[in-house]
Amino acid sequence: MDAESIRLQKTAQGEGNSLSTSARFLLSSRHLLESAGEPFYRIEKKPDGTLGVKPANFAELEALPESALDARHYVVRKDWQDRVPPQYMDSADPFELKLQHYASFSDEEKAQELAAIRKSMEIIRKNTMPPMEKARAIMDAVEDVFILNKSALKTVKSEVGINQRTVAKETGSFVSEVLAAVDESKLTSALMDCFAFLSKGQSINHISRVFSMMISFMLHFNFLHQTGSWQKVRIAFKERYKDQYRMLFPTLDDAYLTLDNMVQLSLIDSLDKKEWALGAFLHDIGKMANLDYFESDAAYDANEIRQHVYLGSGLILMNYGTDHEDARIIAGDHHNALFHKDGYSVTRWEREKGIRKLKECSISISSQVNDYLSGEALGFLPVEMLAVVDIYDALTDASRAYKKPMTSLEALQFMHGKLVGQSKLDPVMVDIFADFLKTQGVAVPDVLGLPGRP
Ligand SMILES: [Fe+2]
Ligand SMILES: [Fe+2]
Repeated sequence: MDAESIRLQKTAQGEGNSLSTSARFLLSSRHLLESAGEPFYRIEKKPDGTLGVKPANFAELEALPESALDARHYVVRKDWQDRVPPQYMDSADPFELKLQHYASFSDEEKAQELAAIRKSMEIIRKNTMPPMEKARAIMDAVEDVFILNKSALKTVKSEVGINQRTVAKETGSFVSEVLAAVDESKLTSALMDCFAFLSKGQSINHISRVFSMMISFMLHFNFLHQTGSWQKVRIAFKERYKDQYRMLFPTLDDAYLTLDNMVQLSLIDSLDKKEWALGAFLHDIGKMANLDYFESDAAYDANEIRQHVYLGSGLILMNYGTDHEDARIIAGDHHNALFHKDGYSVTRWEREKGIRKLKECSISISSQVNDYLSGEALGFLPVEMLAVVDIYDALTDASRAYKKPMTSLEALQFMHGKLVGQSKLDPVMVDIFADFLKTQGVAVPDVLGLPGRP
């Protein structure tokens, strides 16, 4: 048996780096597998009870009865798609391929697969491979973990069981691993470079980009904190920001409008960082019920789109439990737009239902969730950080079927002029984000960044 077969045999026994898969998946990917000249193998039980592999072919698959197509009795190299010539890959939708691949997994297998990806992430993190290679491996794993969440989480409480709990736990650990891996400046810029190479056309790329950008943005936010940059913002506040906050808070006393009263810029501790990264990862998980709609150029239906925040918040609560309140609020409120009438969110819905007794609002963004829930703050720090990242990505995304992408600068100008002007985004938050983009190589004019920063 050659080395490759031995490696595949290990996979059949639950080790190694290859994937066990179904005949249906192999048949649906036939033109790609053939174009890459990629072999695949049938898993067989040997007389001594151990598992082995034998080369298989398409004639054999075609002869299988319908009832046998979904059993994962075959194995193929995990990275086989890398060997498909680009002209073939262009016509395939990698997201669909992965979805199909996981569709035949049972919930238990999905949970096991996720645990295996989390473990491999630990190895990737410790590996000394070049940053770009590492970044690609991370993005690939992010895709898999998101798709596994998408297909394993339940919308009905009575269906949530041990496998969903495992998916939730392993996803939390996976996000922490990614965070630890990215917490090195070299890798951060490689990750950002990596976005440019991500294939186009899928919501999953939006998730990967927003998730990674949020992680980098949080690191930058803490960097600003440690370098004392807020002092310069404080000094420039009156001249640069006060008018904008007056629009947000027309009834507050003028003397009260200071940076420290308006925006709470405390350092993000490591626990919050993990939870907020998880929130960014799951922020659009509510789109899972109707992903096709979001991917298509179907007529804009506001109600359809709005559903994803309620569904996402409910999914996290049901499947992840009550220990992930911040992540749930990020998913439920990331389109809240500081309570502007055009926004929508779970917290807004709760307020409309009179679920909470509200205090007077006097803070634009608070880092304390209770200030937000009690009505004292218009925004909660991770929600507003995610909102700017999310909007920026949507504006610059070249793959959205319904509109042309903006350049980075056009998007920032739109956020700064239109969205801050309409009081849908916080002015300081947009400038912090502009400052972050500067560090990522975007040419941002001074008028759009933080005052006093080179
Ligand atoms: Fe969203
Ligand atoms: Fe989004």
